[in-house]
Amino acid sequence: MPRVVVLPGDGIGPEVCASAAEVLQKVAPDVELDYQLLGGGAYDQTGSPFPDATREAVMNCDAVLLGTVGGAQNSPWNALPRPLRPESGLLQLRKALGVYANLRPVKVMPGLESLSPLREDLARQVDVLIVRELLGGAYFDPRRAIEGDSAYNTIGYSKSEVDRVARVAFDAARTRKKEVTSVDKANVLEVSELWRGVVQNLRDTEYPDIKLEHEYVDSVAMLLVKTPGRYDVIVTENLFGDILSDLAAVIPGSLGVMPSASLGDGPGLYEPIHGSAPDIAGKGIANPTGTILSVAMLLRHSLNRDAEARRIEAAVQAALEEVRTPDLGGKGTTQELGAAVLKALGRA
Ligand code: NAI
Ligand code: MG
Repeated sequence: MPRVVVLPGDGIGPEVCASAAEVLQKVAPDVELDYQLLGGGAYDQTGSPFPDATREAVMNCDAVLLGTVGGAQNSPWNALPRPLRPESGLLQLRKALGVYANLRPVKVMPGLESLSPLREDLARQVDVLIVRELLGGAYFDPRRAIEGDSAYNTIGYSKSEVDRVARVAFDAARTRKKEVTSVDKANVLEVSELWRGVVQNLRDTEYPDIKLEHEYVDSVAMLLVKTPGRYDVIVTENLFGDILSDLAAVIPGSLGVMPSASLGDGPGLYEPIHGSAPDIAGKGIANPTGTILSVAMLLRHSLNRDAEARRIEAAVQAALEEVRTPDLGGKGTTQELGAAVLKALGRA
């Protein structure tokens, strides 16, 4: 029996996770759910934002579904030493799972085009998956220092680090339009030259069916807004991916609708891209769509159940035609939108 660890977390996390867990139970009743603590609430109860019991559970499961962690700006959690803060729990979780590829699909739901900052005809064309390398590059490279009046960081990658994330991108492209754009800055960075070579070699030797382009990150930043329909799968290093994925995150019109997956060689981690939204927590109006679509990604990538994933995606689309939460300009509640998804699943 597949086992999924659910980490509702803080703020609106428990609200959106409740909806998403119901959806998961509806399409995959055989999946066993194991609820554990993470984040600020975990610290309050155990003294650690990533308790041992949580570590133990996530290391022995098939996938992890996460809500959100963190408090409001004035939360006492923010006065704790850094390793005890809620965000540290999330970083420790990602590290424990060794998830090196972050997947963020970006799409504008039919009917929600007018919420996108893009022109409606452009918004309709968007269907891109951004694959960001998550464990390497400048954020983790130990070659860094502040020395007197100067400072430096290093963006280091090994061939194997590039190879494993590129594989995730090529595999994902095989289930989509079979096009990968590898994003770098090979005109000025040595590390990009290595990146480019590894990705090209992998495509030539193992993925000849995939069309591969190499583009510069500055150019992609412009084209993602100007002609977003040109991209299918984008793969890039950690820092570039951080910036491009936040740029792309505004395209659907609400943070509340976007799912993500983080994959490694063990259990995958699935979570909405938004934070704990302290401004609306407890009001029952958070949009559960991003978390429900994260369940679809969980079924697809960790449990190999693409058909169920597609059922959920279709049900979410149908539900949004009936119920919209305030972030989408409606008056619906989390519970009502969740119920509409369950109802649509019942019809399908
Ligand atoms: P946020 O994403 O929590 O909220 C930004 C704005 O979007 C708010 O107005 C919020 O109400 C709205 N929003 C977000 N998700 C929504 C949803 N599902 N439905 C409706 N509206 C939604 O970002 P913010 O305010 O910068 O961060 C709040 C806390 O969340 C902080 O403690 C931060 O550290 C944490 N955070 C946690 C993340 C995680 O758990 N992965 C990611 C980002 C932030
Ligand atoms: Mg970011």
